Amino acid sequence: MKKVKSKILVTGGLGFIGSHTVVELQNEGFEVVIIDDLSNSKIEVLDGITSISGKKPEFVQFDLKDKKLVKQFFENHKIEGVIHFAASKAVGESVEKPLLYYENNIATLVFILQEMVKNKVKNFIFSSSCTVYGQADELPITENAPIKPAESPYGNTKQIGEEILKDTAKVEDLNIIALRYFNPIGAHKSTKIGELPIGVPQNLIPFVTQTAAGIRKELSVFGDDYPTPDGTAIRDYIHVVDLAKAHVSALNRLLGNQNKTNFETFNVGTGKGSSVLEVINAFEKVSGKKLNYKIVGRREGDITSAYADTTLANRELGWRSKLSLEDALDAAWKWQVKQV
Ligand code: UD1
Repeated sequence: MKKVKSKILVTGGLGFIGSHTVVELQNEGFEVVIIDDLSNSKIEVLDGITSISGKKPEFVQFDLKDKKLVKQFFENHKIEGVIHFAASKAVGESVEKPLLYYENNIATLVFILQEMVKNKVKNFIFSSSCTVYGQADELPITENAPIKPAESPYGNTKQIGEEILKDTAKVEDLNIIALRYFNPIGAHKSTKIGELPIGVPQNLIPFVTQTAAGIRKELSVFGDDYPTPDGTAIRDYIHVVDLAKAHVSALNRLLGNQNKTNFETFNVGTGKGSSVLEVINAFEKVSGKKLNYKIVGRREGDITSAYADTTLANRELGWRSKLSLEDALDAAWKWQVKQV
């Protein structure tokens, strides 16, 4: 039996990145309590987590917009750190319903921070995104790259979230790390947890796997006239298990008082860019399936190319991504096959 370490609150712990992070935390001996409102996740994920790690995390179901319940939760639980995943993440929907996104992503962040301050919970990890950089002027992207005006209310909630954290860290006794995720993909290799998109997937990999599984007729490749070697857009696709482990490293940094300032940001990516056509080719290789796709026009708001400079995370967090694009696509495909 591993020694039980601190109790960590994981909001959105039944979501895609949250569930993989809960597994890694439990594997490292942390005690986890999850808050999730099941608005974009399924209760069965709890069984998946339990079956992989051999331990059932505590689970509390409620909506973080209910300030009273957030208050009660912190009064009734002795927490040493919070990893905050719970948020809405559909870019298109955020354009249609900006107020919903500001309420879901910003109001809840404020409520949690208020209760952390009141209850002297010091350590906080925030899910930020490479979307804050927009189309960066220099590649690979370092943490010092300027923040560009957000393309959507969703992207804006990540920028505003970081600003709220920076301002709060100046005056409150909090230690905060914002992790700027590049493009998380894949699934757990056990195929017990993975991505569960609701409706038509907006992101590339779930659309690819659903097309290969016959759920979607054809993948649209959004643009082949970008100034890249094959004309399709380039992203830094990171295996969700590697990303989950970055959270454990960030948490250990905070719990061990190794942070240099009380608000830090780190890029979490692989450092390698892949084009849409490279992803399709790699997918066809690992799955043995021919993918039905056609080239269409660019998607509004898409950038040409983004991949991370991960030097800072490698050095300061002692973390680096280990799994390949092929590993991630293989896991995503096996997970998809299991869903059908
Ligand atoms: C998108 C969001 C970003 C968010 C991230 C979360 C947009 C414009 N950006 O990033 O804000 O943080 O998801 O995961 O929605 N592609 C296709 N066909 C498809 C789907 C995607 O060709 O059916 C292409 C896209 O044009 C892009 C690449 O695949 O070049 C990756 O797309 P996606 O998975 O949606 O991620 P991002 O657009 O990078």
